[in-house]
Amino acid sequence: MTQLRPNVYAVGAIDWDRRLFDELIPLPDGTSYNAYLIKGSEKTALLDTVDPTKISVLIDNLVKAGTDKIDYIVAHHAEQDHSGGIGDILMLYPEAKVVTNPKCKGMLVDLLGIDDDKFIAVSDGETLSLGDKTLQFIYIPWVHWPETMGTYLKEDKILFPCDFFGSHLATSSLFVEDEAIVYESAKRYYAEIMMPFRTAIKGNLEKIKGLEIDIIASSHGPIYDKPKFIIDAYKDWVSDNVKNEVVLPYISMHDSTRKMVEHFVDALIERGITVKQFNLTVTDIGKLAMSLVDAATIVLGSPMVLTAAHPKVAYAAILANALRPKTKFASVIGSFGWGGKMVEQIAGLIGNLKVEIIEPVIAKGHPKDEDFTALDNLADKILAKHKELGIA
Ligand code: FEO
Repeated sequence: MTQLRPNVYAVGAIDWDRRLFDELIPLPDGTSYNAYLIKGSEKTALLDTVDPTKISVLIDNLVKAGTDKIDYIVAHHAEQDHSGGIGDILMLYPEAKVVTNPKCKGMLVDLLGIDDDKFIAVSDGETLSLGDKTLQFIYIPWVHWPETMGTYLKEDKILFPCDFFGSHLATSSLFVEDEAIVYESAKRYYAEIMMPFRTAIKGNLEKIKGLEIDIIASSHGPIYDKPKFIIDAYKDWVSDNVKNEVVLPYISMHDSTRKMVEHFVDALIERGITVKQFNLTVTDIGKLAMSLVDAATIVLGSPMVLTAAHPKVAYAAILANALRPKTKFASVIGSFGWGGKMVEQIAGLIGNLKVEIIEPVIAKGHPKDEDFTALDNLADKILAKHKELGIA
C-alpha cells in the first residue's frame, strides 16, 4: 500500500510470477493489478479490485490504509483481473455500491453474478462527490472491451484509465522510473491488447485531450507522473504512419525456406530496409505482435505442409489478422515438394489486413538461381512501395 497523493492510495497487487495472460499472451516481466483507494472528506471509493488470485493482497492493503468503510467500488472494466475481487469486497464492505456504466453493469451481472440492487449506473461525464474530492467518469470504449470507462479525479488531476496506457510489468516502483523499460512493456501491451481498436483509441485520445492531467494511473504497470511520455507514444502507435520495416515470421523444415529467408533478409538489408525476423519455433508472440505496430510490410515464410502453410505460420497469420496492424503490404515466400494452395490459404487468413499483396516467391524444392533472383525482385518491389510512401 502506497500513497500517491494525499488520501489517494495504491492498494493493488504485484504479480511477479505470472507468465501468461488469457492463456495466450506471454508476460516475461509479470504484471500488476492496480487498484486505488480514494478517501474523500465524506465518502470513500475503491477504484477497481484485483485478479481473484491476489484478493488477499488487496484486502491486506485496505486494512493497512485504515479502511473502515467503502461507499463506492468503481468498476471501470468487467474483465476479471480488475473486477474479480468485487464479490469479496462486497462481502467485507456490504454497504458499498458498485459504480459503473450500464454496459459494464450488464457484463458484471453476467460474469460475476452481482445483484442488480448493488449498482449505481453512471453516464458519460457524470460526477460523484466524495466531499473534498470529485470523481468524473469518462467512457473510453474499446480499450479493449466495449464497456470500459475511466475516472478523472478533478482536485488531484489524476486520470485512472483502467487498461488504457497500461503495461504488463511487475515492479516495486510506484511511478515510472526507467522510461525505456516501460516503453517496451507498454508497446507490447498495446500490440497484444489495444492494436485491434486503433481507431477507437484515436477517439479516446481526443476525448481526454481537454483534461489537465498530472498523473495517469493505469490498472497495470507503474504510474505515469510524466504522462506526456505515454500519451505521445500512443499517438505514434495509433497514427497511420508506418516505418521502413519488414516483419518476417517463418518456419523451415528442411532448409529450403531457411535459405530463401536468409537470402531475402540480406537483400532487404542491402536496400536499407529494417528487418524483424522471427523463427516461429522459438518466437515470443508478444515480440512478433510488437513488431507489427509500426512495420510497413509483413512477409510470411513457410514450407508447404499437407498442401497448406505450416500450421505455425498459419497461426502467425491468424494472429496478425486478429491484431489488425496498420501494415500496408504483404507477401509470402517459401517452398513446396509437390503442390498445394499455401498462398491462397495465407491470403484468406489475413483478410482483415488492408494490405496490398506483392507477388509471392515459392520455390520447388531447394531454391535455385531463379528463385534467388525472384527474391531480389521482391525486395526491389518492397523498396519501391516503401519509397512511394516516403518512408525509404
Ligand atoms: Fe486488465 Fe482488460 O483487463
